[in-house]
Amino acid sequence: MSDILRIRNPVIGIVGIGLMGSSITASLLAAGHRVKAIAPLPGEEEPGLDRIIRQLRLCEDFDLLNAPLKEYLGLLTVSNDYYPLGDCGLVVECIVEDIEIKETIFKKIVEFTPANAILASNTSAIPISILQQMIPDPQRFIGIHWAEPAFGTRFLEIICGRETNEQTVDSIFNLAISWGKEPTVLKKDIRGFITNRLMYAVYREILHLVEKNVIGFEDADKCFRYDAGSWMTLMGIFRRMDYDGLDDYNTAFRNIFPHLSNEEGISPQMQKIMDSGAGGIQNGRGFYTYTQREAERWLQSFEAFNKDIFHLAANYPEEIPITSKVTS
Ligand SMILES: NC(=O)c1ccc[n+]([C@@H]2O[C@H](COP(=O)([O-])OP(=O)(O)OC[C@H]3O[C@@H](n4cnc5c(N)ncnc54)[C@H](O)[C@@H]3O)[C@@H](O)[C@H]2O)c1
Repeated sequence: MSDILRIRNPVIGIVGIGLMGSSITASLLAAGHRVKAIAPLPGEEEPGLDRIIRQLRLCEDFDLLNAPLKEYLGLLTVSNDYYPLGDCGLVVECIVEDIEIKETIFKKIVEFTPANAILASNTSAIPISILQQMIPDPQRFIGIHWAEPAFGTRFLEIICGRETNEQTVDSIFNLAISWGKEPTVLKKDIRGFITNRLMYAVYREILHLVEKNVIGFEDADKCFRYDAGSWMTLMGIFRRMDYDGLDDYNTAFRNIFPHLSNEEGISPQMQKIMDSGAGGIQNGRGFYTYTQREAERWLQSFEAFNKDIFHLAANYPEEIPITSKVTS
């Protein structure tokens, strides 16, 4: 474990407190860390703090806090300057997905952070091997990819860049366990990481089928919700295949793979919807249409659902079928 993370409860810096940064900050406060939150743009401290308080209230609603909210706020500082990062063992960058802006921000982070601190990015798609070149010691750089809401999902993807060392991976893995996560380690830095990559394969196939008029998108949504949705959280993918029995899979793969879409371009139907100015739930027009009230109800439903599934998953931990071991 990195020297600085040997301390069981390192101070953690979060740079960028938009949607993800504020949710990650709340999650780390709930886990008992002192957090130095940096709002890189002038005037962002107050709205950033408001967002963190809102997220902490959601943590409370998720039953993740065991002390009054103001005690967690006592662990937090929010500032526009980077000097509070001086005692951090880990700093996570959560700013806008723009490689040039990230580079400017990492220069500042490096200037103010201890030389042995681990530096990380919550990027969704920029290769970690590229980002880690922005710091003098790329071995201590790593991707830590949360899903929204950061405090309310067990998911946490740890991504190694080409030069990330094992010590850095182990340190973050152990910390993630202490945050109540079920962390996964992506050993190679591939485009789209894992979850996004899996979902893009699904998006491509379903857009292809909708395009061919095989199914409407409402029915496609129903299939995904009520079939995959009924086993995914319990089993994942490989345990699902084991559960089904492997005998038929090889034949099914041989028969079905040649029929799956290998389309490299953007779906014309999706392009048409985008060209019409549809932005999804944000402006009420996407594959479906939404009144403002409907959009709000989807946001509220997702929040409530996240809470239910977070606690439901805890009733079925990874270790349940303790007799099974991964074979490779
Ligand atoms: N939104 C998600 O569900 C999600 C999930 C996983 C990862 N991510 C990744 O997390 C990161 C942050 O995403 P987000 O959804 O929180 O975005 P956001 O727009 O809510 O917040 C972006 C932050 O970047 C800062 N910022 C904007 N322009 C800047 C500039 N010129 N200089 C310095 N800072 C600037 C803003 O002040 C804000 O704090 C991105 O890399 C994104 O890919 C997002």
